[in-house]
Amino acid sequence: MRQSRVRQRATRFFCFCRVYTFHHFDAIIIGAGAAGLFCAAHAGQRGLRVLLIDHAEKVAEKIRISGGGRCNFTNRDLDVRAPHKHFVGQNPQFCRSALSRYTPADFIALVDKHGIGHHEKHKGQLFADRSAEDLIAMLLAECADGKVERWQPCAVTSVSRTDDDVARYALETSRGAVSAHNVVIATGGLSIPKIGATDFGYRIATQFDLPLIERRPGLVPMTFDGAAWEPYAQLAGLALPVEISTGSKKERMAFVEDLLFTHRGLSGPAVLQISSYWQPGTPLAINLAATENMGEQLLAAKVRSRKLIANELAAHVPSRLADAWCQQSADWQRPVNEASDKALAKLAEKLSRWELIPTGTEGYKKAEVTLGGVDTRALSQQSMEARTQPGLFFIGEVVDITGWLGGYNFQWAWASAHACAQSL
Ligand code: FDA
Repeated sequence: MRQSRVRQRATRFFCFCRVYTFHHFDAIIIGAGAAGLFCAAHAGQRGLRVLLIDHAEKVAEKIRISGGGRCNFTNRDLDVRAPHKHFVGQNPQFCRSALSRYTPADFIALVDKHGIGHHEKHKGQLFADRSAEDLIAMLLAECADGKVERWQPCAVTSVSRTDDDVARYALETSRGAVSAHNVVIATGGLSIPKIGATDFGYRIATQFDLPLIERRPGLVPMTFDGAAWEPYAQLAGLALPVEISTGSKKERMAFVEDLLFTHRGLSGPAVLQISSYWQPGTPLAINLAATENMGEQLLAAKVRSRKLIANELAAHVPSRLADAWCQQSADWQRPVNEASDKALAKLAEKLSRWELIPTGTEGYKKAEVTLGGVDTRALSQQSMEARTQPGLFFIGEVVDITGWLGGYNFQWAWASAHACAQSL
């Protein structure tokens, strides 16, 4: 009898040790991407016991493939006082607090501290000189500095709330049960499922009754109806600078960037940027000769030239585009001096305001980001903690904050992760 009581006490003591010593953490972070790694490093360096879990074999696959393998890790032009300029979501102002407490300059200082060479390419976009791998190595070194424990590959099968004040959350994983005072969801969005994207974060939000904003692919190439696109499909591979816009007069959004023709539609920075603002069923307007007044140029050519209109046009836009464009009307397939003023004006008008309605996008398999996500009204902008679920945090792309192309999404991942880590 006495012996069995001793055994019972020993078992209870063992369970206590198992839960509170071996398998209990101050914070468990799910998702070892940009935001998860950065949050884990900061929390660990604050002295917290941190477990970082990812279901993929390798960490940070998106950092690895980003920026053409060189990771556009931040943007110098980010205006932290006016986040609506570079971020999309129901309430872009939400990210102001985190972005102003961890700025591009802070991240650049960290990159410099690790001796990683970088350069500015275009409009404030900073890239690693050598490889995105250098940034991943930097984040792993920062995690090691914070003694972060990492479990990979490891699947989380459930997250539940307990009534224990210390071990507030219990998790079942493919490596056993764990508990934590805080749980951080950093599982990103839905883009590029083949490298590990899942809807895990949205499912956890729903499980804990947090509202979601509808998700759709962002920074994504656009597609057009097969038959209607046929005349332009021959232009696949052609790139040129354009002005692209969408939306009503009041809410018009425009970008001046490069456009790329593809076999199925349009891509390139101009289209990726506008895709985050485009609403299905509405048109895009593209000025293919954004730097020229084509009407004036063609009328001037009429006075001095006998060349074909397509040849005159080729002085202002790529010749493949000029040829394809002029094939659209018999009035445009003649020497410029024989064309009527009206035909030239029509040609110029169509070139500078090409209106077309995309049939859709290339979807999550090609999108760089997911628009929508966890509704910011359910989170604290100081800490990223769910207002109704103490100890449950959401950071990075899983939140309804989406940056422009150009390093803004990584800056959001760093800043939201930093804000969260300070509050764990
Ligand atoms: P991220 O996607 O980085 O990480 C999520 C992690 O969670 C992954 O490691 C995943 O395996 C893990 N995970 C998912 N489901 C899980 C589950 N059920 N259980 C456990 N783990 C799970 N941005 C930018 O600023 N500059 C750039 O140059 C680029 N370039 C770029 C190129 C391409 C091709 C893409 C697809 C995206 C970009 N981006 C970008 C966007 C940028 O990569 C993205 O916004 C950030 O990586 C988001 O960081 P997160 O940490 O939130 O998610």
